[in-house]
Amino acid sequence: MYLRVKFWIKIFMENIYILAIESSCDDTSAAVMRGETVLSNVTAGQAVHEQYGGVVPELASRAHEQNIVPVVDAALKKAGIEKEQLSAIAFTRGPGLMGSLLVGVSFAKGLAASLGVPMIEVNHLQGHIMAHFIKEDGEEHKSPDFPFLCLMVSGGNSQIVKVNSYKDMEIVGQTIDDAAGEAMDKCAKVMGLGYPGGPIIDRLARKGNPKAYSFSKPHIPGFDYSFSGLKTSFLYTLRKLVADDDNYVDAHKEDLAASFEATVVDILMDKLYKASKALGIKRIALSGGVSANTALREAYKAYAKRYGWEIFIPKFGFTTDNAAMIGIVGYYKFLDKDFCAMDQPAFSRTTL
Ligand code: KG4
Repeated sequence: MYLRVKFWIKIFMENIYILAIESSCDDTSAAVMRGETVLSNVTAGQAVHEQYGGVVPELASRAHEQNIVPVVDAALKKAGIEKEQLSAIAFTRGPGLMGSLLVGVSFAKGLAASLGVPMIEVNHLQGHIMAHFIKEDGEEHKSPDFPFLCLMVSGGNSQIVKVNSYKDMEIVGQTIDDAAGEAMDKCAKVMGLGYPGGPIIDRLARKGNPKAYSFSKPHIPGFDYSFSGLKTSFLYTLRKLVADDDNYVDAHKEDLAASFEATVVDILMDKLYKASKALGIKRIALSGGVSANTALREAYKAYAKRYGWEIFIPKFGFTTDNAAMIGIVGYYKFLDKDFCAMDQPAFSRTTL
């Protein structure tokens, strides 16, 4: 009897297809999930922002308008399913750029209404954290048990979150000004390196000396972060150095990148360690775009070895903005029948 029930539950879960849509910033992404398994995860980036050294909200909304139909189409094709097979549509409701969000939210509403399927709203940050639960066909996967701590570091957020369940998350610490990714992007911008700066800093830092320069670190109580002082410290150091030598940045960009990156990683890891110690939690996950950073990943592994942490780092494709992370939350909410009404507006600001 027990085995038969288990069998039918499995059949039921494997027939839940969720289309997820993510459009909170400058990536238009659509994914199809079968249960917890991702069948497709298609993302169109927006090169248009590179020439401006940052995301231009108006241009981002327009690009989403152009991308959304082909991206959803490609996700359905790649997953090998028809839209009529979908059980629900999950979408990022916020936080993010309002114009960008509206494209995804409106598209999701229109498609859900035309198919007569429920809609599921997802918090973008919750998606980043739950990316650890996405499974891929034919691959071994280990998700963290609850509770765990997650360092969520992206272009817009830097938070330490205690995750008690997929819908019960407590912010233990967060940035009081800039996010870690924003600091990386700004550092690259003042060195004239292009956008997004994080991956460029990462690449250069691999060839540089992380101890070549020292920059000021914040003294913030508790588990909160601050990166604006570091940004200023970097800018002032650079100003002094280039005053006597126009070529300074070009000749020392590897060392500058490595030293800046090392300072960001030190700041992030220091508070994470303190939070882990204070809360007695040694299951530690990493998520958000900055989690792609090589030095941060290395520091995670070193801390794991030193302090006996069990660490979880998502695959690259699930760290930056993508729709599969929205789909996994969508699936859990589907099982809880946690659907939303048609009049749900997008929201640009708020945390978890
Ligand atoms: O999570 P994400 O894709 O978008 C937001 O929701 O913000 O994060 C984007 C951020 C950008 O600031 C980008 O520079 C940073 O993640 N980033 C990196 C790396 N790859 C992306 N920062 C450092 N090292 C990287 N390898």
